[in-house]
Amino acid sequence: MNEDNVRIFDTTLRDGEQAARINLNTAEKVQIAKQLEKLRVDIIEAGFPAASPGDMEAVRAIAGSLRYPVIAGLARCSISDIEAAALALEGAEKPRIHTFIATSDIHLQDKLRMTRPEVLEKISKCVSHARSLVDDVEFSAEDASRSDTAFLIEAFQAAVDAGATTLNIPDTVGYAVPHEFKDMVEKIMAGVRTPREVVWSVHAHNDLGLAVINSLEAVRSGIRQVECTINGLGERAGNASLEEVVMGLRTRKDYFGVETRIDTTRLFPTSSMVSKLTGFPVPPNKAIVGSNAFAHEAGIHQHGILCNRATYEIMNAEDVGAPSSSLILGKHSGKHAFRKKVEDLNYSISEEEINKAFSLFKELCDRKEYVSTEDIEILIIDEILAVSAEREYILADFNVHTTRGQASAAVSLKNGDTTLEDAATGNGPVDAAYAAIRRIIGLDPQLVSYKIDAASERSDAIGEAHVSLELKGLRSHGRGASTDIVEASIKAYINAVNRICQLAEVKGIALQQ
Ligand code: KIV
Ligand code: ZN
Repeated sequence: MNEDNVRIFDTTLRDGEQAARINLNTAEKVQIAKQLEKLRVDIIEAGFPAASPGDMEAVRAIAGSLRYPVIAGLARCSISDIEAAALALEGAEKPRIHTFIATSDIHLQDKLRMTRPEVLEKISKCVSHARSLVDDVEFSAEDASRSDTAFLIEAFQAAVDAGATTLNIPDTVGYAVPHEFKDMVEKIMAGVRTPREVVWSVHAHNDLGLAVINSLEAVRSGIRQVECTINGLGERAGNASLEEVVMGLRTRKDYFGVETRIDTTRLFPTSSMVSKLTGFPVPPNKAIVGSNAFAHEAGIHQHGILCNRATYEIMNAEDVGAPSSSLILGKHSGKHAFRKKVEDLNYSISEEEINKAFSLFKELCDRKEYVSTEDIEILIIDEILAVSAEREYILADFNVHTTRGQASAAVSLKNGDTTLEDAATGNGPVDAAYAAIRRIIGLDPQLVSYKIDAASERSDAIGEAHVSLELKGLRSHGRGASTDIVEASIKAYINAVNRICQLAEVKGIALQQ
C-alpha cells in the first residue's frame, strides 16, 4: 500500500458487537468479515477471544477464512488474554494482537487500583509477551483523551520500547473535541521516540456526535490508522462511522491530502448487510448510506440536479454503491440472474446454498407478485445463513385463530428429533403464539422490544420482525421474516430464544429454574 494512505481498522465485529442488544453468531460474523475483506479494509478486529468461548470460536473462524486483511484479536494487558488472542489467531495469514490498558487517573484509581509505575511495567511486560507470539502488536491507552499527556507519552514509550508496531489513541468515552484532540495527538506523536517505523492510530467514540470529525482532525496531524465501524455501531452512541470517515477523506482529498484503499462502491451493500444482521436500522438521513442520502425532494434542488448533478451533489450514489434502478427478478428469472443478484448483494455462499436459495426464491415468486432485492437479501439471511448456525428450536408449524382482540395459537417446534407442541390464548395472535412458545420451552423470558417492518413498500412485502428478550441477565436479539407477519414474529422470537440458549451455554448459566 502507499505508505501515506490511511489504514482502515474496522471494529464492527468487536466494538460494534459490544453494543447493547447486538449479538451475532459465528456464521453471521464470518459473513460480515468476508464482506469487509471485499470492501478492502486493512485490518479487521474480529473479536475479544478471552471474553467468551463464542468470541474465541468466531475469531478462529474468521482468522481461518480470510487471506488479505490483518486479523486483530483484542486482549487486556494480561498474559492470559494475550495468549487467548494468539491462540484464536493461529490460522490467520496476518495476525495482530491488540492489547490495551487504561491510562487516565480515574481508571487507575477507581477501576484498576494501580499506580502509574505499575501500569508502565504492565505495558512493557504484556507488549513484549505479545511480540514474542506475533510480529504485529497494537497497543491502546484506554481513556487516552482524559489522561495526562505526559503520562500518555510515557505509556506509549513503554509500548514502543517493548515492540509495539501500532500505537492507538482512543477517545474511549467520546469526550474529546476536534482541535483539542488534534493538539493532544500532535503532542503525543512528537513526545514519543520511535527508533523504527510505527503506525499511529485513533479510535473515537460518538458520545458528543464528534467521533468522525475527531478522527479526521487526527488524520491532519499525521495519524495513519483510523478505527471505525460500519454504520457507526459501537458501545453507547457508537464509534466513528467507517463510511463517513472514508468518504470524508475521499471527497475532501483536496483538504486532507490522503486516501484509503477502500472500494467505496461496496459501502452501501456492506451497511445494508450489517444493518440486517444486527437488527439496527440505518436512519434514512444517515450520511452516505441512508436511503435519503442521495434523494432530492425540493423542486429547486431537482431542477439543479437535472441541469448539473454537481449543483447539489458532492458525491455520486454510484460511488458508494447505493442502488440505482435494480435488476428485477421474478418467476421467469433463471439461476444465472439469481446468482448475479446474490453476488451483487455481496453474500458469499456456496453453489449448494445458491441452489437451495434459488428454489426458495421460486417458491416465494409463487406467493408474491413482485420479489424485491430486500426480499432476496432476507431469504439468504434467514434461510441460508441462519440455518448454518446451530439452533436449539426450529419452527415446525403454527396455527392462529383470532376474533376481535382475543386470539389463540397452537405452535409446534422441533428440538432435535423431538416435536414439541402447545397452545395458548393471548391479546392478539403474536401474544398468543409467544405464550404457547413459552409453555413449550418452559422458560419465561422478558420481551424487551418487538418491532415489525415491511421490507418494501408493497402490501405483499416480506415482513421483518425484530425481538429482544432478556432472561437471567442475558439479552438477545432475534429476527425473522415472512410474507406472513405472524410467522415472521414467531421466527424472530424463536431466533432470540435460540441465541439466549447459546449465550447461556457459553456462559455456563442454567436457564431452567
Ligand atoms: O474505546 C476504547 O478505548 C476501546 C479500546 C479497547 C481500544 O475500545
Ligand atoms: Zn471503543
